[in-house]
Amino acid sequence: MILVTGATGYVGGRLVPRLLADGRRVRVLARDPSRLAGRAWLPRVEVATGDVLDPATLAPALGRVSTAYYLVHGMAEGGRFGERDLAAAEAFGRAARQAGVERIVYLGALGDPATGLSAHLRSRQETGERLRAAGVPVTELRAEGAAPAVRLSAQEGMIVERRQLPVPAPPEALFRSFAGLGGERGWLYANWAWRLRGAVDRLVGGVGFRRGRRDRDQLRAGDALDFWRVEAVEPPSLLRLRAEMKLPGRAWLQLEARPAQGGSVLVQTAYFAPRGLPGHLYWYALYPAHAAIFRNLVRRVAERARTPRPPAAARG
Ligand SMILES: NC(=O)c1ccc[n+]([C@@H]2O[C@H](COP(=O)([O-])OP(=O)(O)OC[C@H]3O[C@@H](n4cnc5c(N)ncnc54)[C@H](OP(=O)(O)O)[C@@H]3O)[C@@H](O)[C@H]2O)c1
Repeated sequence: MILVTGATGYVGGRLVPRLLADGRRVRVLARDPSRLAGRAWLPRVEVATGDVLDPATLAPALGRVSTAYYLVHGMAEGGRFGERDLAAAEAFGRAARQAGVERIVYLGALGDPATGLSAHLRSRQETGERLRAAGVPVTELRAEGAAPAVRLSAQEGMIVERRQLPVPAPPEALFRSFAGLGGERGWLYANWAWRLRGAVDRLVGGVGFRRGRRDRDQLRAGDALDFWRVEAVEPPSLLRLRAEMKLPGRAWLQLEARPAQGGSVLVQTAYFAPRGLPGHLYWYALYPAHAAIFRNLVRRVAERARTPRPPAAARG
């Protein structure tokens, strides 16, 4: 039996079908199994409810397991995620030894400790050490971690697409960066594609892209922002926009700055509630373009947060 932790996540969700295709028996560990809804592979796996921070839930999940994949990190929760991740790895290593697990496979992140790692990369490497501490052999793979982690899930009929990226800047700087999107400053990546979407919206009788924003820096709930409406704005942590362009469904874009060790974590969540088959077709047809735009939007928002602000006079 193989246990896959982090099965609701990006890597875990892609590993499970590959293991099943190889003829393996798979059990997945999830804190909230309802987040696995909609996965095509779900009927073919055992599901254990558990939290790597709660050792009592690990013993049943690890029973009869020969290999356990450790694909967990708590970055999305912000705060002192590094310390929490280390405590979780230690608890998991100990529970695995008690359960007689033969091997743990851990996917961490690349980085040379001699050159000074970010809090995120350091914690990923220390997680490998903590997993090994209890004595179960650990195979540690290290991958390039520069891409924002992305997670797709379905919640109550809604497609949820979440990207997160650690940013070495305080939440205030991150908030300023994403609260300045749109209007004359644009959308930081592929502005032409945003404008094209606005033009198409005008053609079909929608509001298009012309509304811009009321104020270059300030946002208030209820403001129009290009083809969005500001639904919630909570400095310095959250901005939620509701799409007002013509769509076969309802859509929101939420940006959050969560305080974390060494700065913040930027969490970008796109929600889409498709209306019938046209809604689903629309989402899947546009997914490649929209994934590229959202992935780069996260990177650019983070870059802008790290760039010192020009003096007020220069900002005009
Ligand atoms: N994605 C990449 O591009 C990438 C690149 C390089 C390396 N990696 C490494 O691959 C590993 C997995 O990354 P990922 O991108 O797949 O992460 P992810 O999409 O953010 O998923 C994280 C997973 O951890 C789970 N989790 C968090 N806290 C937990 C807890 N206390 N107990 C149980 N489960 C918990 C989450 O479950 P919930 O649904 O309950 O929150 C989720 O399934 C990480 O070590 C990462 O450093 C990823």
